[in-house]
Formats: sequence, C-alpha cells, structure tokens
Amino acid sequence: MKLRYKIISGMLTFLTLAIVALAFSISYTSDCGPPPGVSGAAESMKAVVSRCYGGPEALEYIDVEKPKPGPNDVIVEVKAAAVNPLDYHYMRGSPYLMRLVSGIGKPSDQRMGVDFAGVIAEVGSNVSKFAVGDAVFGGRSGAFARFLQVPDDGAIAVKPENVSFDEAAAVGIAAITALQSLRDDGKLKAGEKVLINGASGGVGTYAVQIAKALGAEVHGVCSTRNVEMVRALGADHVFDYKNENYTESGNEYDLIVDMVGNQSLTANRRVLKPQGRMVIVGGPKGNWVAPLMPPVKAAIVSPFVDQEISTMLAEMEGDDLEYLASLMADGRLTSRIDRRYSLAETADALRYLETQRARGKVIIAMDSMTE
Ligand SMILES: NC(=O)c1ccc[n+]([C@@H]2O[C@H](COP(=O)([O-])OP(=O)(O)OC[C@H]3O[C@@H](n4cnc5c(N)ncnc54)[C@H](OP(=O)(O)O)[C@@H]3O)[C@@H](O)[C@H]2O)c1
Repeated sequence: MKLRYKIISGMLTFLTLAIVALAFSISYTSDCGPPPGVSGAAESMKAVVSRCYGGPEALEYIDVEKPKPGPNDVIVEVKAAAVNPLDYHYMRGSPYLMRLVSGIGKPSDQRMGVDFAGVIAEVGSNVSKFAVGDAVFGGRSGAFARFLQVPDDGAIAVKPENVSFDEAAAVGIAAITALQSLRDDGKLKAGEKVLINGASGGVGTYAVQIAKALGAEVHGVCSTRNVEMVRALGADHVFDYKNENYTESGNEYDLIVDMVGNQSLTANRRVLKPQGRMVIVGGPKGNWVAPLMPPVKAAIVSPFVDQEISTMLAEMEGDDLEYLASLMADGRLTSRIDRRYSLAETADALRYLETQRARGKVIIAMDSMTE
C-alpha cells in the first residue's frame, strides 16, 4: 500500500475511534452527585433538583439553600412556574449531544425549570429597575423552587395586572419561541399566509395568536379534539391531522412554522410559495440521529433552493418579554392552561408533558403546595 493511502487510512481509523469514544462518553450516565446541602446559618427553601440524568423519577423535591441577591440581582418569590420540553431534555440529558453543554455523565447544574412568575422579595444594592413587591415574570434557570435569583438585566419583565401568575408563568420559553420564529426567523408580514404545525401545544397556542396579532392569515394543524380550541385562539383555518394532511391541501404558504417535524422537507416545500420561508422549531425526540435530521436536511437543501429553510433556537430576551406583556395587557395574547401541579408534583407535570398531548401549557402552581 502506498504511503499516501496508509496515512489516509490511519487518519480515518483515528477519526472513527475518536467519534466512537466521544459517543461512548457523552451517552454515559454516571451515578448521582451528592445533594446540594444547606449550610448551618443559611435559610432553606423547597426546590426540585436533578442530581443525575433519567426519567421524572430521578427528580427530587428537597430542601436547598435559599438564594441571596448579588448587587445587580433580584430575588423572586415564585408563585408559578411552567414546564417545557427543554426541562425534560435537561432532565434526561437527551439528545446526548446536549450533554456537551448540560454536563457529561450527570447534570453540571442541578437546578431545574426556567419559566417563572412571582413577586420580588429582595433587591440587590444596585437595583433600581425593580422594587420589592413588584409582580414579574420571565425565564431563569432554577424556576422549580420557592425563590429564584434573577439578574435585573436578565429575562424578567413586569407582569400586567390583568394577567394571573399562572398565565404569566406560562408565557416564557413558549411565547418567546413563537414570537421569534414568526417575527425574526420567519419575517412574517401583515397579509401573509402562515401555517403552524403543532398549533395546540405550548408554542403553537401562542404562535396562532401572535401570528394573528402580526396581521397574518393563520392556518393551524392539530388533532381532532383540539380543532375548536385552535379556532377559538384565532386560526382562520384548522387542519385536523387525523383526517387530512396539510401538505396535500394544494395551499401555498408564505411561511411554515414547524413544531412537529412529522412531514418530509419535500412535502413541506410543496405547500410553500416559491420564495416562501420555513422555520424548524421542533422535531422528533430521540437520543442520537432523529432530532438532528430536520436541521441537517434543512442546512443541506437550503443553499440550493429559492425557499428559505432555517432552524431556530429561541433566546430569552427581556425586550421580547415586555412586548409579550403588552400583548397580554391589551388582551391580544392569552395563555391556554391545560393542567396545574404543585411543586412537589413537578415529576408528574413533566411525565404528562412528555406524552406530547398537552393542550397549551402545564403549570407548577405554588399555591397548591403540599409540604
Ligand atoms: N427551537 C427552540 O428554541 C424551541 C423552543 C421551544 C420548544 N421547542 C420544541 O418545539 C416543540 C414543541 O414544543 P411545545 O412546548 O409546543 O411542546 P408541547 O406543548 O408538548 O406540544 C405538543 C403538541 O404537539 C402536537 N402534536 C403532536 N403530534 C402532532 C402532529 N402529528 N401534528 C400536529 N401537531 C402534533 C400535540 O397536539 P395534538 O394533541 O393536537 O396532537 C400537542 O399539542 C418541541 O419539540 C420542543 O422541543 C423548540
């Protein structure tokens, strides 16, 4: 064998071994780390933590140290939190690739939950934007707890008075994702026609309303039992996917926002206008290849077609929360709440969300505490 081929074959062998070693190490689930202790003089609070990757049974409802504010932080007494698919992805460390961020073997951050609404209980010495007693909502790691530390320039905004804590907590990730996928990635304009696949879930119920608020003609896709709910949220047309396939409707959309990923890219492009846009928000669950397929296919196909196909990753922005608060204040955005659980029942809330049958949002309501 020529030296050149020996070098290439050696490099390919090395690459294969490196990929196998990486795959093995990121899929390895190690034993639980020690529970976070509460040091002698510190105040404690109830919280839900994840010391090791696993199903909802791996979550623990325990006493942890109550956070103290830094100079630029506020401490929020959490009145309600919301569960999102992100929470069960962190809980399971799945897809495995995310463990490069969330921790190899076990979670590097044991706190759980992001979306919250509550009342400011303490403010740091430099904080002027918020005062004790303000009702707020937003997103911050560790929301499945009685108290939460949030930087004053983070994803936090004043809660409109006409909105309950449960309704405000529901907004966070789901409504921000809906807003950014329609307005930023989808560049939706008034008068355009948008299709929302997965219109009855957490993101979808907000996407239908925000698309209407942006002046679009909205078509939603959901199962039979949710058709009336999606219509009541403002959809101009609803596809019941149990009985009809939107990709065979003969319609042409300016924008498709896809939360489900159950139709091929070819089928979706068939109902996109020649210069239309498609934003991939969610897709199939799985530890390895399945969740990666829609974004990878989009990245491969996109440069060769006139239609714009992109994958989005939502970012929690304070400005966007303020815009969503204004929509809630004037009644153009409401939260559709399916079920409420207590903080101690967070594992059950995530168990339910993992069925992917939630109708709107699932809430952890602190007033239903069972301590
Ligand atoms: N990219 C990002 O930054 C980002 C942010 C947030 C969420 N996500 C992803 O977006 C997806 C949706 O999140 P979510 O919070 O809305 O989840 P969710 O609340 O669990 O949504 C579940 C919804 O999916 C619907 N659904 C299931 N199969 C369907 C089908 N074949 N056709 C149409 N709808 C179907 C269900 O409706 P029926 O009961 O009516 O079937 C259910 O209402 C998830 O994959 C999540 O990981 C991504």
